Amino acid sequence: MLANLQSISLPTEAETQALGARLASLVQPGDFIALRGPLGAGKTTLARGLICAFMGEEIEVPSPTFTLVQRYEAGLISSHNGQDLMHFDLYRLEDPDDIWELGWEEIGASIALVEWPQKAGPHLPADHLDIEIKFEGNHRIACFSAPATSVWKERLHDF
Ligand SMILES: Nc1ncnc2c1ncn2[C@@H]1O[C@H](COP(=O)(O)OP(=O)(O)O)[C@@H](O)[C@H]1O
Ligand SMILES: [Mg+2]
Repeated sequence: MLANLQSISLPTEAETQALGARLASLVQPGDFIALRGPLGAGKTTLARGLICAFMGEEIEVPSPTFTLVQRYEAGLISSHNGQDLMHFDLYRLEDPDDIWELGWEEIGASIALVEWPQKAGPHLPADHLDIEIKFEGNHRIACFSAPATSVWKERLHDF
């Protein structure tokens, strides 16, 4: 069971990116962040903000729609120097077991941002931060949740 942590309103694309950038200061190797929500909700936009802040520069962050995974390694200009990040978009994954072909066994040493996490089926780690972007009327809200026993509750305390 996931416990609700908080909800943040996302009135503009820039605010969705800024939320991602704020999360970059909290992430550590081994973290798994599931990004849920319908097509066009802003999952890749949030990931883009997080990845640019993680890398410490405004790099191009393509949607891994067709590659299914993109890898990033932070360099010297980043406070995450030497850390890896893997950005997945599992929308086109046909069978959960195909996930091993994408380097899924390496996520434990990396930071994983995963769009369409439900496609990972049984391979989705129990302890993860879940961010669901929902439409309410014509605006978006990011709803954070995590297992009750998760470190995320503490980590997001002053977020
Ligand atoms: N508040 C907002 N947050 C994120 N994206 C927004 C917002 N308002 C409008 N958009 C637009 O919605 C689209 C979101 O696309 P994307 O991030 O690729 O979604 P997803 O990865 O969830 O399919 C972009 O075209 C973006 O410009
Ligand atoms: Mg996307």
